[in-house]
Amino acid sequence: MPDAAAGPEPSTLADFAAPARAALPPDVWDYIEGGSGAETTLAANRRALDRVAVLPRVLRGVHTPRTDARLLGTSYAMPVAVAPMAYQRLVHPDGELALAAAAGAAGVPYLVSTLSSVPIEQLAQTGATLWFQLYWLRDRGLVADLLDRAHAAGCTALTVTVDVPILGPRRRNVRNAFVIPPHVVAANLPAGRDTLAHTATPGVCAVAAHTGEVFAPALTWADLEWLRGRSTLPLVVKGVLDPRDAELAVAAGADAVVVSNHGGRQLDGAPATATVLPEVVSAVGDRCEVLLDSGVRDGFDVLRALALGARGVLVGRPLLWALAAGGRAGARTALALLNGEFRDALALAGCADPLAAGELRVLRED
Ligand code: FNR
Ligand code: LAC
Repeated sequence: MPDAAAGPEPSTLADFAAPARAALPPDVWDYIEGGSGAETTLAANRRALDRVAVLPRVLRGVHTPRTDARLLGTSYAMPVAVAPMAYQRLVHPDGELALAAAAGAAGVPYLVSTLSSVPIEQLAQTGATLWFQLYWLRDRGLVADLLDRAHAAGCTALTVTVDVPILGPRRRNVRNAFVIPPHVVAANLPAGRDTLAHTATPGVCAVAAHTGEVFAPALTWADLEWLRGRSTLPLVVKGVLDPRDAELAVAAGADAVVVSNHGGRQLDGAPATATVLPEVVSAVGDRCEVLLDSGVRDGFDVLRALALGARGVLVGRPLLWALAAGGRAGARTALALLNGEFRDALALAGCADPLAAGELRVLRED
């Protein structure tokens, strides 16, 4: 472990950022942290969450709230899931195996990226509840194979990410000519299907080149209906911001939508997720579950999201920081801290459980 990792004990997820940064090559740090374009959406996510003020209720006899919550019909330790994130062996040799195991121990779902650097069959052995995240590939035969493998590996939900017709222009990666090192492979794809991710070209982000080659760029709602018919698993559509798209997702048979701007990594200038969440919630009503990601950093943010009407949240970068800084134990600590903070937030807001948080009122501070 580098010295930086031996700092004071982390007391919240943000405390993992500095040791992670110290442990990682600068171009990997930039790949994780960066957003697209001028990174305005990346910054807006945080700003919007900070502006959400939750009105606590008092004298409700709440001492130790329950944090467990149902997502897609299954009960989890808290309304939090690990966001799908590509190539986790970039940050720690155990990569996805460690983060999935930590999620399993914490009782929250782990979303397996199509671009996982550990094959889904191995992740199934961690005992975690897995939701498969599909990136639609040009080769539909390969999409069908991935779905079959996800079913066979025991995934309990299918998430399709719809906000990547092309990879957002991440200027940091272009400047760094970021390339995935040879030992970190796209392990769910057939051998040799990730060559471009490993090909260094000046002025080019190799992840963008690779995804441009293999991802299907022009999907339609008809494709989503095909997917709905192809799988019996609960279907989650990730990357919805416009309430009209949320309604179309419901019409196509989605069981949940994730209000997400991909952590500010896709359309720069897209709104913060906390800004659009209430409109999406009122558009879909109780016809599907609404989750939120992009900028969630602690248990108080989870409460904010629930008070705005979300059923739950996905957490991304902070869990990669924890993985980078401390492997499986680090990730387990991060999820335990998040759970403790969320319990505190519920108690302070007078909520006996996450459902009660949905009844809280919110204000936007200037
Ligand atoms: C991502 N994200 C992502 N999303 C997805 O559907 N499939 C993927 O493979 C990836 N890969 C990925 C890699 C890295 C390094 C990051 C940071 C993000 C997006 C992710 O699921 C999520 O939407 C955001 O990360 C949420 O924002 P925060 O919590 O990171 O601010
Ligand atoms: C990313 C992709 C791979 O955000 O989802 O880097």
